[in-house]
Order: sequence, then structure tokens, then C-alpha cells
Amino acid sequence: MILDDNAAEIAKYEQPEIMSFLPPFVDMNIVELGAGIGRFTGLFAEKADRVLAVDFMESYVEQNKFNNSNFTNIDYKCADVTTLQLTDNSYDLVFTNWLLMYLDDQEVHALIQKTMSWLREDGYLFVRESCFKPSGNLYPQAIGSQRFSWAPGSP
Ligand SMILES: C[S@@+](CC[C@H](N)C(=O)[O-])C[C@H]1O[C@@H](n2cnc3c(N)ncnc32)[C@H](O)[C@@H]1O
Repeated sequence: MILDDNAAEIAKYEQPEIMSFLPPFVDMNIVELGAGIGRFTGLFAEKADRVLAVDFMESYVEQNKFNNSNFTNIDYKCADVTTLQLTDNSYDLVFTNWLLMYLDDQEVHALIQKTMSWLREDGYLFVRESCFKPSGNLYPQAIGSQRFSWAPGSP
């Protein structure tokens, strides 16, 4: 889900760039937190052993299932990541894109700690957020008056 009226164009460049930062994930056991409608889920499923796609929006989980119905190595879980419990030492890669911005500092801290226990010893945690401005340009009224006020050097 990208809240931007240019979403398709952004995705065309954004997805390959993000994937290029990841370690080779062939045969990995991957958990994708805040997976949304599965923009990345299928890309993982192409090479991974298994992918667990987690999101707390039932409709997104269903859309993800539909979008990636050609894969048999994806498990879907409708759950809130702040209360999510997974098996320790079970994953090679935990992936999040545009999730942490929805959590407060305490929730982020707790989640990062949990991901460390879910990962195998040589596993990877990948976190990606848009830091210089909020993502998207739709619904600016919901984002507030700071929406366009940032400039390099601003606090
Ligand atoms: C901006 S979307 C990004 C979706 C996907 N990662 C992508 O890049 O296309 C954020 C997603 O995080 C999910 N999300 C936000 N807070 C969550 C939480 N506490 N637990 C689970 N999912 C959450 C939302 O439902 C939404 O699907």
C-alpha cells in the first residue's frame, strides 16, 4: 500500500532498489512484518524456502493471498506485530518496509528485541522507512500541517 497517486511509478523503481539491499535469500525462512497486500511477499517466495507474511488488516492479508496465490510456500498470519509471538531461532531474514512508522518508540524497541530472538544466529533484520518526509501524497490532511514543511537542516 502506497498512499501516493504516483504509486505504480514509484513501485517500479522502489522495489528493485529495496531488493538490491537484501542478502541472497535463496532457501531462507523469511518473516515479513506489515506485509500489506504483498508487494514484496511474492518476490521473496520466488526464491525463499518459506515466507510468513504478517499484517493486522484482514483485508490486506486476503488481498496478499489473492495476489500471490500462485505460490505454495507462503504462510499468512493476521496479527498485530506488537503482540506477535514466533518461535525463537527460526528465521533467516526478518523484513519490514514502512511498518515502524506506525509504532511508538516503546513498541519499536520491543519489536526489535523480539525479532532478535526469532532470528537464527547468522540471520538478518532489514528495516526500511521513509525518514525525510512521510510516505505518499494522498490524504495530506490526515498527516497534518508539518506535511510539506521539512527542509534539509530542519530539526
Ligand atoms: C505502508 S503499509 C506497507 C506495506 C508493505 N510493507 C509494503 O511496503 O508494501 C504498512 C502496513 O503495515 C501494517 N501495519 C501497521 N501496523 C501494524 C501492526 N501493529 N501489526 C501488523 N501490521 C501493521 C498495515 O496494515 C499496512 O499493511
